[in-house]
Amino acid sequence: MQSSPPPPPTSSSAAKMLYEEGETHDNLTIWTPTNPYRHRSSHRRARICVAITFGILMFGLGVSVGAFLHAMLFPDGSSPIIKFPSFLTSSGSFEESPVNSTVLSHLGSSVELEDSEVIEEEDGMKKDSEEEEEDKGKEKESEEVSEEKNKTKRRGKKEESKEKEEKEKEEKEEEEEEDEAGSGEKFVKANRECTNITWYSSRLPRTAEPIEYDLTLHPNLTNGEVEAEVSIRILIKNETKLLILNAENLEMNSFEITRKGSKLKADFVKCEVMTQWAWKFGKRLHKGDHIVLKIKYSSQMKSDLQGLYFSTHLGTDGKKTKSAATQFEPTFARKMLPCFDEPNFKATFQVSIIRNANHIARSNMNLSFSKEYKNGLIKDEFEKSVKMSTYLLAVAVLDGYGYIKRLTRNTTKPIEVRLYAPEDMLEGQSEFGLDTTIRALEFFENYFNISYPLDKIDLLALDDFSEGAMENWGLVTFRDSALLFNERKASVVAKEHIALIICHEIAHQWFGNLVTMDWWNEVFLNEGFANYMEYKCVDELFPDWSIMSRFYAENLAFSQEPDGFLSSRAIESDDDDSLLNLFDAINYHKAAAIIHMIAEMAGQRNFQTALIEYLNKYAYSNAIGVDLWKIVEKHANLQGRVSIPDLAKAYTTQVGYPLVTVERTEEGILVHNQTRFLFAEGEKAEEKRGDWKWPIPISYRASEDNKKKLHWIQADDRNVTWETPSNGWLILNTGGVGYFKVLYDGDTYRKLVDELTINHTKISPIDRSMILVDSYDLSKTSLLNISVYFDLLEYVESKLSLGYWGIGCVAT
Ligand code: BES
Ligand code: ZN
Repeated sequence: MQSSPPPPPTSSSAAKMLYEEGETHDNLTIWTPTNPYRHRSSHRRARICVAITFGILMFGLGVSVGAFLHAMLFPDGSSPIIKFPSFLTSSGSFEESPVNSTVLSHLGSSVELEDSEVIEEEDGMKKDSEEEEEDKGKEKESEEVSEEKNKTKRRGKKEESKEKEEKEKEEKEEEEEEDEAGSGEKFVKANRECTNITWYSSRLPRTAEPIEYDLTLHPNLTNGEVEAEVSIRILIKNETKLLILNAENLEMNSFEITRKGSKLKADFVKCEVMTQWAWKFGKRLHKGDHIVLKIKYSSQMKSDLQGLYFSTHLGTDGKKTKSAATQFEPTFARKMLPCFDEPNFKATFQVSIIRNANHIARSNMNLSFSKEYKNGLIKDEFEKSVKMSTYLLAVAVLDGYGYIKRLTRNTTKPIEVRLYAPEDMLEGQSEFGLDTTIRALEFFENYFNISYPLDKIDLLALDDFSEGAMENWGLVTFRDSALLFNERKASVVAKEHIALIICHEIAHQWFGNLVTMDWWNEVFLNEGFANYMEYKCVDELFPDWSIMSRFYAENLAFSQEPDGFLSSRAIESDDDDSLLNLFDAINYHKAAAIIHMIAEMAGQRNFQTALIEYLNKYAYSNAIGVDLWKIVEKHANLQGRVSIPDLAKAYTTQVGYPLVTVERTEEGILVHNQTRFLFAEGEKAEEKRGDWKWPIPISYRASEDNKKKLHWIQADDRNVTWETPSNGWLILNTGGVGYFKVLYDGDTYRKLVDELTINHTKISPIDRSMILVDSYDLSKTSLLNISVYFDLLEYVESKLSLGYWGIGCVAT
């Protein structure tokens, strides 16, 4: 049986090589190196474990462990693979693509049309005259080009190179200008090319919203051609003459717009650079109107891992088999169908797929019926979907795939769970994934007290997949190595990784699919929550793994690294350059850590009750962070010290995190100087430290007292003293719940070193991890002498159980 191919390398150069070499991956230029502080999530856990294990082993050998440990833990420059969406990278101009002009009319100017009676034009005639004009234009253009060539020949080499220099200079200046211009301006600039649309935003107008899509697709797996037809029922929300939606790399063949069955006349305009298609109506559409937009179009599938793309399986027999699959998040649905491609345009989708008789077609919903189409083809019609965002739509046409299936038992109604994989990979590798999914569905139905609304869920293993996995409602796609587990060959770490990924994607079926963030600037509401919930789910499903003990290292410590640099950003932020940049360590791991902190402060039961209320209130709709925090506040019990919305706001809208400095005085603990922790020093760092303020929950534990206590530092507090009985050691932020770092005084560090040397088990694994991580980071900033870190680390050499370290990853 063939085992899964390894995950792709995490360094962008290596990834490039991989994709350049793979025959089935074209369009390589989309992979670009990115900010090294933006860590992507996939395969990160394996990296963390390997890194820490290595670090400790090296210490045992007398090597400078600190630098190595952290270099490995957060490998600088091993940046994620991030792609720019094509609406930013393409240099397309405003152009009509060859369309069936018997139906389309072309616009010549950008003036807003006034209310007027629609003049019916002879489309055919218009086409003829336009084509004539176009041909003339082309002739002229080619004449000009050859004239230019001749001129260049005539002018000689010197002039030629001078001209070249000037041109290069101009180009450079243009580039610089472009770099200087903010991303917002970039859009405006891009829009200048689309002068026929008087709409200057990449966001769609809110004057129209889709109600239902009826889509028929025929992807040809042999030549990659896709013929399609979509009918969109649209509700007009406000009077308008303009209808805009998203489309990218699609060829319009014809369109028809009707209202109550009668045709409406509109001019079609296409703006490729903004991935928008627009229609200008002669007469205003009115609030409450229902219109139906029918479009026939075609496209070409590629192996670019976006939209509807080719995924190629290399079989054990060396044979390559092509299937078609989709990846739409965040903005690639527009590559498969013209649509309102924003998360808060939820609608229903009725999908039909035309396929070869020996292929399998799947989509979000169950198959309603199959019927014979022409030429021996089959047409599969799927049930109408629930109301959902475009990025969750999915289809697959599979060649050489098989499946195994089972029904859930402990859910309100039986859910059919199928795992699809290439036939030669199915056997012996599918049981764990299928079983874990069933158990995860049961866990989340129970935790959220909301039934999974569909009748089925498919898990699809793909050879070619850009992410680890994608939560499409009812049809979850996976990189094969993130789903298939070979009990005989694979490691325990791989098993944990697969379980976490499955739990993550199943958590999304509620957090993200049922309730969706209003806009991508709050994608943490999807990803941070799924990241948090995946640990809760795995902890319930596999209690022996003590997965929660990894939470601190993989989320809090992991994200504090990039967040301690000037280049970081707040969780809630617009990243205009590329929405894909938002899927980073801040939105996955910092967000998960902040959610954990809030849940712990609110109380786990209260938090769960709040989540249930939130999911019910915003089901099939969208929400913003504040909507959730207000509900948590209702159920929380913080004894009036600080409100949940304030706590959440401080940590989600401000960049970085605080450093608290501890001193022991006669009176107890003195905690002061709430400043932003930064790895970098110097004036710039001081400037950037800014005037941030955080409320800080300080849970602490003293050597004499096994019970932890909580003390809140208010956002405006500076030097705060409170009484502690302890003369021994003291640990602040015990449990690693608060999102901050702690710097102790020399005496406390000495006491901690003593305790670790005498009986390190008196301090919990998470606290030991935290003390080491913080002290090492502080020594990098010269706030702490590196020798303190080495002293703290010394116990590891004698006390460490390597076996446990290797698996547990936190037994520092
Ligand atoms: N929704 C994401 C997939 C995704 C990531 C789409 C980036 C678009 C851009 C999915 O839920 C996810 O988070 N997948 C992770 C794996 C997960 C276990 C952290 C991934 O692909 O890395
Ligand atoms: Zn996710």
